[in-house]
Amino acid sequence: MSKIDFTGRVAIVTGAGSGLGRTYALELAKRGAKVVVNDLGGARDGTGSSDAAANQVAEEIKAAGGEAIPNYDSVATVAGGENIVKSAVEAFGKVDIVVNNAGILRDKSFLKMDENMWDAVVAVHLKGAYCVSRPAMEIMRKQNYGRIVMTSSTSGLIGNFGQANYGAAKMGLAGLTNVLKKEGAKYNIKVNVIVPNALTRMTEDILPPGMQDVFKTENVTPAVVYLCSEQCEDSGRYIVATGTPNGILYCRSQVMTGPGKKFDKVPAAEDIMQNWGEITNLNGARFCEEATELFMG
Ligand code: NAI
Repeated sequence: MSKIDFTGRVAIVTGAGSGLGRTYALELAKRGAKVVVNDLGGARDGTGSSDAAANQVAEEIKAAGGEAIPNYDSVATVAGGENIVKSAVEAFGKVDIVVNNAGILRDKSFLKMDENMWDAVVAVHLKGAYCVSRPAMEIMRKQNYGRIVMTSSTSGLIGNFGQANYGAAKMGLAGLTNVLKKEGAKYNIKVNVIVPNALTRMTEDILPPGMQDVFKTENVTPAVVYLCSEQCEDSGRYIVATGTPNGILYCRSQVMTGPGKKFDKVPAAEDIMQNWGEITNLNGARFCEEATELFMG
C-alpha cells in the first residue's frame, strides 16, 4: 500500500480554525503539506471576525514541526478568495490542494427565511467555493495538477427541515463539482465532494444527543486526506463520512437515473399517472458520466 504523503505540496483549507477544517489542516501538515490555515473567525452565523482561530491552528501545526501560515480573509468575496490564493503563492510558491470547508448556518423554516439569511449562507458555502477555487484552478491548470474538495451535506443531498438556504448551497456544490470535474479533467485536476457528519459547534444542537463519541471530526479526516492525495484518481465523487453506533462508515452517494419507461408517442398526462410506478422506479438505476447517456444510452 503506497503511503499518502504531501511533501512538496501546498494546501489551502478554508474555515480551518475550528471543527472539521482544523483536523484536515493538522493531518495534511503532519503528512508534509505546507498549509494555509484560512478562517474568518466569526460566530456560527457568520457575524464578527477574529484572527485568533486561524492563528491558533497555524501555531499548532508549527509547534508539531509542520509549515503553515494563517489567513483571515472571508471566502465569500472574490477579493477574499484571490487573497487567500495569493497568500499561498507568496508564502509557498503554488497551490496544489484546496479544501473548501468554511461554513456558517442561519436556520429557519422557509417561510420565515429572509433575504439576508439566504444570501449570507449561499455566499459562504456556494459563492465561497467559487471565489477560492477559481483563482486556485488557474494555478492548478498551469502546473497540470490539482486536488479540490468541496464540502456538501445530507441537508442538501437528502434534505433537512429549516435549512433551505444551506441545503440549496450544499447541493449547488455538488453541481459545481459535476462541472469542474469535466473542466479540470485534462489538467489533472480532480474535484470531489465530502459529505461529513461530525460534532462541531455547527452541529452541537442538531445532531442527536449523547452521540459525541460517535460523530468525531477525526472520522472524516482520512477520507478528505485521500481525496486530497495524488493517489486519488477519481473525480466527481460524493463521499459520505460518518460515525455510526457500530462503526465508521464511508460510502458513495450520487445522483442516479432509473431505467424509466419509453412511449412511442407523446403520452397523455393520464398515461404518466398510469405508469408512475415504472417511471419512478430506481431498480437498475445508473450513474451517467455524460448527459447524452440519458437519451442515447
Ligand atoms: P465549524 O463552525 O466548526 O467550522 C466552520 C469554520 O468556517 C469556522 O471556523 C468559521 O469561522 C469558518 N468560516 C465561516 N465563515 C467563513 C468565511 N466567510 N471565510 C472563512 N472562514 C469562515 O463547523 P464544521 O462542522 O467544522 O463545518 C465545516 C464544514 O463542514 C462546513 O462547510 C459545514 O457546512 C460542513 N458540514 C459539517 C457537518 C457536520 O456534521 N459538522 C455536516 C455537513 C456539512
